[in-house]
Amino acid sequence: MRTSVRSRLERLTIRRRLAVGLVVLVAVVLAGVGFATARALEAFLLGQVDQQLAQTSDRVHLGPRPAVGDLRGQPLGTLGVLIGPAGAVEAAVLAVPAGETSPPPSLNEADKSELISASQQALRAPQTVDLSSGLGSYRVTADALPTGEILVTGLPLETVHKTVGRLLLVEVVVFAAALVVVGVLGAWLVRLGLRPLDRITVTARRVAALPLDRGQASLPDRVPVEAPSTEVGQVSEALNVMLGHVDSAFAARAASEQRLRRFVADASHELRTPLASIRGYAELFRRAPTADPDDLARAMRRVEGEADRMGELVEDLLLLARLDQGRPLERKQVDMALLAADAVSDAQAADVAHRWGLDVPAEPLLVCGDEHRLRQVLANLLSNARIHTPAGTSVRVGVWAEGPWAVLAVHDDGPGFPPHLMPRAFDRFTRADTARSRDRGGAGLGLAIVAAVVSAHGGQVTLTSVPGDTTMTVRLPRDGTPR
Ligand SMILES: Nc1ncnc2c1ncn2[C@@H]1O[C@H](COP(=O)(O)OP(=O)(O)OP(=O)(O)O)[C@@H](O)[C@H]1O
Ligand SMILES: [Mg+2]
Repeated sequence: MRTSVRSRLERLTIRRRLAVGLVVLVAVVLAGVGFATARALEAFLLGQVDQQLAQTSDRVHLGPRPAVGDLRGQPLGTLGVLIGPAGAVEAAVLAVPAGETSPPPSLNEADKSELISASQQALRAPQTVDLSSGLGSYRVTADALPTGEILVTGLPLETVHKTVGRLLLVEVVVFAAALVVVGVLGAWLVRLGLRPLDRITVTARRVAALPLDRGQASLPDRVPVEAPSTEVGQVSEALNVMLGHVDSAFAARAASEQRLRRFVADASHELRTPLASIRGYAELFRRAPTADPDDLARAMRRVEGEADRMGELVEDLLLLARLDQGRPLERKQVDMALLAADAVSDAQAADVAHRWGLDVPAEPLLVCGDEHRLRQVLANLLSNARIHTPAGTSVRVGVWAEGPWAVLAVHDDGPGFPPHLMPRAFDRFTRADTARSRDRGGAGLGLAIVAAVVSAHGGQVTLTSVPGDTTMTVRLPRDGTPR
């Protein structure tokens, strides 16, 4: 039974539950108020009757001839009963309107014994008795007469009961009306208070209906927050924060998918050109196998060159993929000054058209990292300075310590980066030569590899470039610097 009421309550909407709860609560309070006021009024009225009764009994008692037969001047309905020393009712009289003679009240045996038994207690304090003969409830007091008789004087309680009954009736009507008003108003207020929940539901449903698995990458809906201090306001805010997170996660995923697609497209494009030329040479020699041996040697060199280029590209791509995966690097003490000196002397040997300069400290400048990769960083930067600047350009490589950093700067006074390229300089497959000709530079992965290696070492790389003044600055944490 209890569980069925409970489960039925649980199935009710919050709105109904709140409204029903409110009505039940108010009903309980009103019932308590009604009961208390009725009891208070009854006690007050009984007090008044008791006072009146004391005066009445005094008058009957102190009259010239205390006798039950004379109730003239007493309130209407006053009952006088004389109980003899033997404990039997000897006489009884009832006050009637003036002019009429008081008939003896028709007390039956039950009433008499009730009066007799109440009379003893009534000697001390007024008592209430119910007279079944039709006289109704009476409040009685008793006085012991010198003759040994007991004079019982009573006043009817009919008015008291009627007044209390009347009060109860009025209360029931007023309280019932109040309950209806509380129910209607309460339900309206609850509905008003919970209306924002509907908006949350609507928003959640709209978001649930979005085709998120099919490229929908933004959640336009947010719940309007009217009062952030309320519970519903807090739920709305929390939901909005969650939607914001989901939104930015989707945006990040879409951006990374976009990047990946471009990357794959660029990589395929880069591989397609050398593949096409290798295929072209192969086809040429299939069709004309007796060609000039010099032609054959030239063609084979070209094939080899294209295959090398493809091999380098694949190596670069693999390295970037490994760095993206966050694979651990080799960690050894590496002297950046030594690396820079080696790189500059390699560049000098490879290219005499540029002027090479080196500024390194006398003592070693140690960083902790992967020597092979760091050599690659230097090689990429110096090859850029060599390939993307005209002959005669002077290139200076500097290495120094700056607080916790080991700084490596490669400066050249060449024409500088094309301005439109600057923001994307470290992106993959970025290069000024959009025709992707083979004679200057490679695929555009050199600086992307520099950035990836440096960041894998916990460092930063920055670029400043104006015509005649281009500097690539790499900062790596010095050995012993906590990361
Ligand atoms: N020192 C420089 N002066 C002027 N432009 C430069 C310099 N270094 C790089 N650039 C420009 O930045 C682009 C990107 O360089 P990055 O090293 O990433 O690619 P790349 O040299 O073209 O090809 P890869 O290095 O993969 O062989 C270059 O194509 C070039 O236009
Ligand atoms: Mg390069």
